[in-house]
Amino acid sequence: MKKEELKELLKDMSLKEKIGQMLQLMGVFFLEDADSVLTGPWQSLGIEEEDIRTAGSILGTYGADTLMKIQKAYMEKQPHHIPMLFMMDVIHGMKTIFPAPLGLGAAFDPELAERCAAVAAKEASVSGLHVVFSPMADLVRDARWGRVMESTGEDPYLNGRYAQAQVKGFQGEDMGQPYKVCSCIKHFAAYGGAEAGRDYNTVELSEHTLRDFYLPAYKAGIDAKAGMVMTSFNTVNGIPASTNRWLMRDILREEMGFDGVLISDFSAIMETIAHGYSADEKDAAKKALEAGVDIDMMTGVYAGNLCKLVEEGEVEEAQIDECVLRILELKNRLGLFENPYKDADPKKEKTVVLCEEHRRLAREAAAKSFVLLKNEGILPLDATKKIAFIGPYTNNKEIISSWAVTGNVSDCVTMEEAAREVLDTVHTTYHAGSPMLENEYELIGFGGILAHDVSEAEQQKMLAEAVAAAKEADIVIMPLGEHYQQSGEASSRAMIDVPEVQMRLLREVAKVNENIVVVLFSGRPLDIRELSRTAKAVLEVWFPGTEGGHAIMDVLTGKVNPSGKLSMSFPYCVGQIPVHYDAYSTGRPDLEGKKEKFRSKYQDIPNEPLYPFGYGLSYTTYEISPVSLSSEVLTDEGLVEASVKIKNTGKAAGTEVVQLYIQDITASVVRPVKELKGFQKVELAPGEEKSVTFVIEEPMLRFLRADGTVGSEEGKFHLWIGCDSMTENMAELQYSCKRK
Ligand code: GLC
Repeated sequence: MKKEELKELLKDMSLKEKIGQMLQLMGVFFLEDADSVLTGPWQSLGIEEEDIRTAGSILGTYGADTLMKIQKAYMEKQPHHIPMLFMMDVIHGMKTIFPAPLGLGAAFDPELAERCAAVAAKEASVSGLHVVFSPMADLVRDARWGRVMESTGEDPYLNGRYAQAQVKGFQGEDMGQPYKVCSCIKHFAAYGGAEAGRDYNTVELSEHTLRDFYLPAYKAGIDAKAGMVMTSFNTVNGIPASTNRWLMRDILREEMGFDGVLISDFSAIMETIAHGYSADEKDAAKKALEAGVDIDMMTGVYAGNLCKLVEEGEVEEAQIDECVLRILELKNRLGLFENPYKDADPKKEKTVVLCEEHRRLAREAAAKSFVLLKNEGILPLDATKKIAFIGPYTNNKEIISSWAVTGNVSDCVTMEEAAREVLDTVHTTYHAGSPMLENEYELIGFGGILAHDVSEAEQQKMLAEAVAAAKEADIVIMPLGEHYQQSGEASSRAMIDVPEVQMRLLREVAKVNENIVVVLFSGRPLDIRELSRTAKAVLEVWFPGTEGGHAIMDVLTGKVNPSGKLSMSFPYCVGQIPVHYDAYSTGRPDLEGKKEKFRSKYQDIPNEPLYPFGYGLSYTTYEISPVSLSSEVLTDEGLVEASVKIKNTGKAAGTEVVQLYIQDITASVVRPVKELKGFQKVELAPGEEKSVTFVIEEPMLRFLRADGTVGSEEGKFHLWIGCDSMTENMAELQYSCKRK
């Protein structure tokens, strides 16, 4: 349809019908047997039959047959036969599940993420979906927060590259094209800053920090033309995001130029009452409309109050028209007025979804997401050795994360299944060794309290069998980690430990066998001081997705040389949080090796994380030359090339992530001690050497100043090029601005 036709349609719609477009319900309201997932607080909604008849979109239901039935039935009743939008949380894959985003970020490979998003879009679109609530572009610094799992990490630049790539993967150049869907950037804004890492908690940031660190990744996604943005649950400057005009109109719409659809998070408009910002639903409706929120997700706040507000002259119908036109425009960008079913195709759904090609990509992506944290010469595995697999993740299929709501764990390949394909059965044994969690650990899942009781006698039996197997083995592989429901939404943890019942297993095994390789499953950085001391090797595999088992065995056997780099720092312990590499110096920086009292440091732990951002080992070693600059002076009209030579000094081919960091030594506001400004993945055969060059230009030096302007300032800069954020391989650059 042309824009004029959309405007004509809008003119012809009744007020009630327009407001219907601003209501989003779960699919269960339309088909009892619909395959739906409840992802937010279920409220008594006060939804009426007419609301259902005119609702503009649904979430949480998928399946070509189901959605085609819903669409057909709905459009027959809809007064202008306007098609519905179908939306779903396809966070890191639809049925073929890719690594959880924190892991995908560790691949330092936005192009890979784009490919994964394109596959997710294809599987989602043939399943009848039009919009995916992804990527989450929230910056994260607090591993207590369960949703760090859904982020690509602690760095604004890396997150921005990934947000841009994923939007492109989901939407392509035109979301109306086959196998493309609308991408939704979330959660706007700064949801990852929740105080104390407690989900839905207050976010207390200076505007400077909000703009300098938290907003850039959303902006990157919006610049990539994301069709939708979702509000966050938290307050910003004391006002809930979903009713925050400054955030949504001044920043999102005006400054960032976002002209797509703004949807609230699940019941977030209603929750502004609980925040103490809206007096009641009517007040919430008014404030959210004034903030420019177009769709009310899963409450009756808009449906039950906007009509009255217009009739009472509290809001203008024109405000509603503005929202509804954006919703109609999105439906139009997707081509739904011409074809309301878009790519829904039950036959293709059977052949496209989880096809071998998609599984291969999932296996590749998983292997690239793994981070080798420690390796005292025990990996890659010597397959001639006797190997015991001991740990609750040995044969556990729950490896796709708590946000892979459309995925099936039954499709997953476990470590044991993969190991049996490559290791001989004579010399290899498999034991869970312990339950995943202590009996007393209460986990509340989507459907209520997750039972996981294992009797003491059974636990003793599991332990005894495991220890006996460990005694017989040359090497013990221990797949340990968080329960998948210990991370994700509403899964904050004050203690970020590997479950104690598993640590007991590790200690008992270590008493009889010191050759331990821990394969760590987690949705967050964990406190792994003891584990890391005890094991000879530690491979972080996050929640690796459908092909997790195969990918892990590819890496353990050396078929794939690990190349992942931490996208989020592993704190020394939970007391160190928030810890992030791009911190400010402070006036009393701790001086390494100096025992001075009056310094910014702890008495009982180091300042440095256990494993820093950008860190990850390989089965080979690399040498990087000192940084060489094409010039020691950069001007605003020129560029400087910063280069290193990197050599593979080991025996295995590998891929290294060469990272570029800068520091503005003195500026009108303090600048981080390091800021990631670029990275390049370099493949090297044993003995091979390559030159890696980064082009340094003035825009890279820009930052947000105290007066709100963004610009660069003359002076001295440090440029680091290395293999992680602790690199000391540095050159000094002088920036002088010719343009006065
Ligand atoms: C949830 C999440 C959001 C998700 C939405 C719809 O509460 O916060 O990320 O997209 O509801 O399921």
